[in-house]
Amino acid sequence: MFDRFNRKINYLRISVTDRCNLRCVYCMPENGVPLLKHEDILNFDEIVEFTRIAVSKGIDKVRITGGEPLVRNGIVDLISMISGIKGIKDLSMTTNGVFLDKYADDLVKAGLQRVNISLDTVDPEKFEQITRVGNVQKVFDGIKAAKKAGLNPIKINCVITNNSLEPHAVAVAKYCEENDLQIRYIKEMDLEKGEFSVVQGGSGGDCAVCNRLRLTANGMIKPCLFSDIQYSVRELGAEKAIEMAVENKPRSGHVNNTGKFYNIGG
Ligand code: 5AD
Ligand code: SF4
Repeated sequence: MFDRFNRKINYLRISVTDRCNLRCVYCMPENGVPLLKHEDILNFDEIVEFTRIAVSKGIDKVRITGGEPLVRNGIVDLISMISGIKGIKDLSMTTNGVFLDKYADDLVKAGLQRVNISLDTVDPEKFEQITRVGNVQKVFDGIKAAKKAGLNPIKINCVITNNSLEPHAVAVAKYCEENDLQIRYIKEMDLEKGEFSVVQGGSGGDCAVCNRLRLTANGMIKPCLFSDIQYSVRELGAEKAIEMAVENKPRSGHVNNTGKFYNIGG
C-alpha cells in the first residue's frame, strides 16, 4: 500500500489492551484511567481477521503493544494466531518486561520473534518513582528470560527528557552494552501539545518515511500517532477502514487530543 505521499505502508502496530500493571508518570495518571468496556475491546478473532486483511494488502511487519500487552488474558494464544498468518516477516512486541520472566518461552513457541522492553533507569528507587509501582528486578529477570528464550534482537526503550547524556540514560546504556542489548532513546512526548521527536536508534517519529498504521484495542485504525484521524473497524469493516486510513494518512503529525500512549501503544 502506498499513501498520497508515496510512502509505502507495511507496518501495523496492534494495541491489544489499554490496561497496564505499571503507572509510568509520563504515560498514566497515578490512579489509572477510565478503562475501555469489555465489549468495546476487539476479541481475538476480530484482531486476527483484521490482521489477515491488512497483510493481504501489504503489511509485513507487525508489533503487539498496549497498555501492557502481557496483561491481556490469552496473549500467548493471540500471538500463535497472528504468527500463523502467512506474509508476516517480522513479529514483535513492546512490553514493560515485568511478566516476560513468566511468558518469554511460551511467546517464542507461539512465534514471537523479538521484543522491545521499556527501561528508563537501572536504579531501583528511581524505577519505582517513574513507574510508581514497579520493581526493576522483575524487568532484569524478564530481560534474562527473553534472552534465554531466544528473542533477538532485544531492544531497550529508554525515555529521556532532553538528551541521552542524562545520568539515568547513560547508566541504562552501560547496562545494555554489558548485556548485549540495543538501546533506543525516546524523548518524552506530549501528544496533546504536539511535542514529538525522532526516536534515536529507531525508526519512529520521522514523518517523511513513516510506514505505520495503528490499531487500537477498541478497534480504531489510526494513520498517525499525532493526529485525531481514526476509522472504526467494526463500523466500516477492516478493508474499508484500512483503505481510508491509508488514503488520509497526513503528511506529518500535529496534535492528538483523542488518544494517549496507553491506548494507542506509542
Ligand atoms: N513520551 C514518550 N514515550 C512514551 N511512552 C509512553 N508514554 C510516553 C511519552 N509520553 C513509551 C514508553 C514505552 C512505549 C510503550 O511508549 O516508554 O517504551
Ligand atoms: Fe505501562 Fe508502558 Fe505506560 Fe509505563 S509507559 S504505564 S509500562 S503502558
